Amino acid sequence: MDQRILLTGGAGFIGSNLVRFLLHHTEARVVNLDALTYAGNLSNLRDVEHHERYTFVHGDITDAACVEALIAEHGITGIIHCAAESHVDRSILSAEPFLNTNIGGTLVLLEAARARGIKRYLQVSTDEVYGSLGPTGAFTEETPLAPNSPYSASKAGADLFVRAFVHTHGLDAVVTRCSNNYGPYQFPEKLIPLMISNAMRNEPLPVYGDGLQVRDWIHVDDHCRGIWAAFTKGRSGEVYNFGGRSERANIEVVKGILKRVEKPESLMRTVADRPGHDRRYAIDCTKAEQELGWTPLVRFEEGLSSTVQWYRDNSAWVDEVRSGEYRSYYEKNYGGR
Ligand code: NAD
Ligand code: TYD
Repeated sequence: MDQRILLTGGAGFIGSNLVRFLLHHTEARVVNLDALTYAGNLSNLRDVEHHERYTFVHGDITDAACVEALIAEHGITGIIHCAAESHVDRSILSAEPFLNTNIGGTLVLLEAARARGIKRYLQVSTDEVYGSLGPTGAFTEETPLAPNSPYSASKAGADLFVRAFVHTHGLDAVVTRCSNNYGPYQFPEKLIPLMISNAMRNEPLPVYGDGLQVRDWIHVDDHCRGIWAAFTKGRSGEVYNFGGRSERANIEVVKGILKRVEKPESLMRTVADRPGHDRRYAIDCTKAEQELGWTPLVRFEEGLSSTVQWYRDNSAWVDEVRSGEYRSYYEKNYGGR
């Protein structure tokens, strides 16, 4: 089938990796709608910007007229919704952009999908909507939603709108919930790229609290394959969890980075904990494995090594994204800690 996909947020971390995946591994046409916020960067897409199946549109998902017009103009058949305000610490500093983009923007896309008879809609969501785990157990798709941060609350709100549009309007839609991603082109506000880029510059590595919080890490390539599997094979109305089967305490991850960058552990600094910090995330992705034939392929130790190498090889990209707005954010988030 001739797939014409509207991908939102394709200039961000996961989105730009997904653009590349779609162009290299599928026949789909890709229209990338991105507002180019601080997190969106066209230099993430230099290698594919002239691809014949790729079009970039600079616009905001909260702009209904823009969304409707581009769906009509490009004959869009499916939507993969990746755009979001994505960082927990920023949502603690100011929640409103999270309400506007993550909930308001999702609603605009759902209304447009309904009005234009879009055949399949995929909502890229997060395991953070399930809240925090104790020392054992893992999130399944049946785990009740219990978001703790303004970010995860906005993602959970958006997921529930998707559910309501399936139930009430018969929209064909799936939701994917993934654990913490890492890999090339991740903005250095998130743990792994922040620690790599600070270590490369001999700057302190700020570890929140005791550093024993646990995250499950998945390479972005595995996530992109999962999104496509859910988009093409998922059942409408269903949720699919993706994880990397790689639970690690933050402190272990930071030490692993220092070892790979060949810098001393004395660069680590304990700083004040994140308010409301979720202690542990872990994902049970049996459903995706059984129904979609998907499984994570990248082992964390190898994925971390190749990611560190990517940041070493692309220090000009890191310098570019760390200039400007990044400095004032860094001061606001870390200055008083
Ligand atoms: P990111 O912050 O790197 O990129 C977000 C992109 O969305 C940017 O290109 C930005 O310009 C764009 N954008 C933001 N607001 C917009 C708006 N109003 N209109 C149009 N474009 C807008 O985010 P990411 O880490 O790539 O995350 C992508 C998606 O995956 C998000 O929905 C996020 O919630 C979800 N997710 C992320 C992770 C993770 O570990 N990074 C894990 C699970 C789920
Ligand atoms: P992050 O990459 O922000 O992802 P999320 O909060 O969405 O899981 O953070 C991952 C973990 O690393 C989380 O437990 C918070 C911790 N962390 C630090 O200890 N220091 C930092 O500077 C950052 C950004 C995160």
